[in-house]
Amino acid sequence: MSKNVTAIPLSFELASRESLAVCYPIHCAVQVVPWSEGTFTDCTTSPYECWLAEGNGQIVGYVILLIVLDEVTIMDIAIAPEFQGQGIGKQLLRHVLSHCRNQKHRVCFLEVRESNQAAIHVYTKAGFTLLERRKNYYPVAGGREDALMMSLML
Ligand SMILES: CC(C)(COP(=O)(O)OP(=O)(O)OC[C@H]1O[C@@H](n2cnc3c(N)ncnc32)[C@H](O)[C@@H]1OP(=O)(O)O)[C@@H](O)C(=O)NCCC(=O)NCCS
Repeated sequence: MSKNVTAIPLSFELASRESLAVCYPIHCAVQVVPWSEGTFTDCTTSPYECWLAEGNGQIVGYVILLIVLDEVTIMDIAIAPEFQGQGIGKQLLRHVLSHCRNQKHRVCFLEVRESNQAAIHVYTKAGFTLLERRKNYYPVAGGREDALMMSLML
């Protein structure tokens, strides 16, 4: 689905509260159960770190990390719907994992709905493996679905 080279040149930078607020509509557009805007924009200060992907003069995606000692957890990652499938998610993830390695962080964790094949594909290609399955963890229309806990040694 994605191309090896993104159609638009990208840059990556740490988010401020103001720049992360620009991402809130992206968050609401793609998340099944969005966070409140306050919770979302609080994610720019320790122990959180948020990176933005910018292209064509606009913010096209973001990733929010929780960093505790040498452990990183990916709390959220999203690419604006109109920019998905162009390799941006893959490059953003590669960028933050490289940054985490440079910071000498040891391991990265995440959890993902088992129905989210796009995200599972991106994570697996980045080297994440299944750590644990949490049965019926997430609410979903008409019931619940499992969460996959994944990890990557950095
Ligand atoms: C998951 C997400 C971040 C991926 O970003 P993206 O920019 O669309 O993905 P990319 O274009 O970088 O694709 C990376 C790989 O995933 C594959 N992929 C993308 N969408 C896919 C889909 N719907 N089904 C299966 N594979 C898919 C691509 O083919 C590509 O594979 P390749 O490297 O083998 O070519 C993006 O789809 C998104 O924002 N989803 C909504 C939010 C979300 O679910 N976040 C994860 C929460 S855990």
